[in-house]
Amino acid sequence: MGLSADNNERAIFATKFGAVATTVGSAVGLGNIWRFPYEAGIHGGGAFMICYLAFVFMIGIPLLCAEFCIGRGTRSNIFGAYRKLRPDRNWHFAGYIGILASILILSFYSVVAGWTIEYCLSSLFGQLDFSDTQTGHGQFVNLTTGWRPVIWTFVFLMCNFIILIGGVTKGIERASNILMPLFFILLAAFCINSFTLPGFKEGVTFLFKPDFSKISPSVLLGALGQAFFSLSLGLGCMMTYASYFNKDNRLGKTAVTTAVLDSSVAILAGIVIFPAVFSFGISPEAGPTLVFEVLPYIFSRFPGGAAWSTLFFLLLFLASLTSTVSMSEISITYFCEEKRWSRKKATVVSSAIGAVGGLLCALSFGPLNHLTIYGMTFFDMFDYLSSNICLPIGGMICSIFTGWLINKRFVKDELTDNGKHRFRLLSLLLFFLRWICPAAIFLIFLNSIGII
Ligand code: PHE
Repeated sequence: MGLSADNNERAIFATKFGAVATTVGSAVGLGNIWRFPYEAGIHGGGAFMICYLAFVFMIGIPLLCAEFCIGRGTRSNIFGAYRKLRPDRNWHFAGYIGILASILILSFYSVVAGWTIEYCLSSLFGQLDFSDTQTGHGQFVNLTTGWRPVIWTFVFLMCNFIILIGGVTKGIERASNILMPLFFILLAAFCINSFTLPGFKEGVTFLFKPDFSKISPSVLLGALGQAFFSLSLGLGCMMTYASYFNKDNRLGKTAVTTAVLDSSVAILAGIVIFPAVFSFGISPEAGPTLVFEVLPYIFSRFPGGAAWSTLFFLLLFLASLTSTVSMSEISITYFCEEKRWSRKKATVVSSAIGAVGGLLCALSFGPLNHLTIYGMTFFDMFDYLSSNICLPIGGMICSIFTGWLINKRFVKDELTDNGKHRFRLLSLLLFFLRWICPAAIFLIFLNSIGII
């Protein structure tokens, strides 16, 4: 983050562009490129897509506004924020859900980010052979089973640690300001390439044509979880980032920009992946391994494929780093501001916890794959619990809190910068925060446990 200290000892983003870029940097990551296609694949494509987009706009944008208002208005971490606004009640307990979610996510996220490092280096040294589906699959299995992924998970966590502790966040922000648009352009180029694939029509139909009969409780819950995960919502991450925003940041605009850019990247990724899935005869239901089995085929069709592949995985690795930095910030600010630890101690402890979780998740594809609860490995369990349970609950609390418990005036002042500009949709926003968001989340929960 391009943070600079102000008089209140609390840092703020140096520029408005930096603030928006870092917020988008948190949102855009493996959630868009890896998780979205695999979730869409297992949940029937078009049916999932329509629910996901509906949730981004109906629940995601209002909640982004809510987290931004609370964060910037109180300039605190999630615990401090809830406590400052309602000292009389234990609302700050939502912070524990946020911390739990951030640790669970960091654990499995680092494993997937570790795969990107492995793929990046293998492409660089010309070791990836994806001449046919069997070899491609075999290579992926080789890379992800055994102890090897543990090393890459730790390498990734180490990079995350260095950024967090070394104060080189400025560098990462500057780099990502250039690299993220480049990533977008690269993705768009691969997207154009998809048009030339034999499975283009089938892939695009799968992704965009909703078959409403496929909308089931698990599709709804999956799409809700994906919307929260992709927008980094429900765990106080956006709240923490907003606490570093300047007063002149127009929160409503920032919320819409973040949601639109984030879902565009996910859709682009879908257009890159699904035509290839159908062209190369891979099952769209392959799950978490889908993208890593498909992407190398796409690259191998390009002249200089290894170079493209190296660049792509390098950019994906950087996009993952800007996301893990933001999720680590939740527990670090908690330890620093609530427990009065030094930043160094807080970073060491959070990273160590992430490393233990990362170890369990990294081994889920190999030595620990027989250890399952309800048929889920540690990796699957951490992903499911955080995205589908913790984040929506955190979001529901935030929405009820903003809609019902804090002063309307406070929300209005934040959104309009104390009346300096207009925010015409305030009543609509409050209506969504009071009724639509909590009710929708609640009903989806009831539906998924079979009550309705
Ligand atoms: N939104 C990030 C992504 O899509 C993941 C993330 C989740 C980051 C929660 C921070 C907090 O990759």
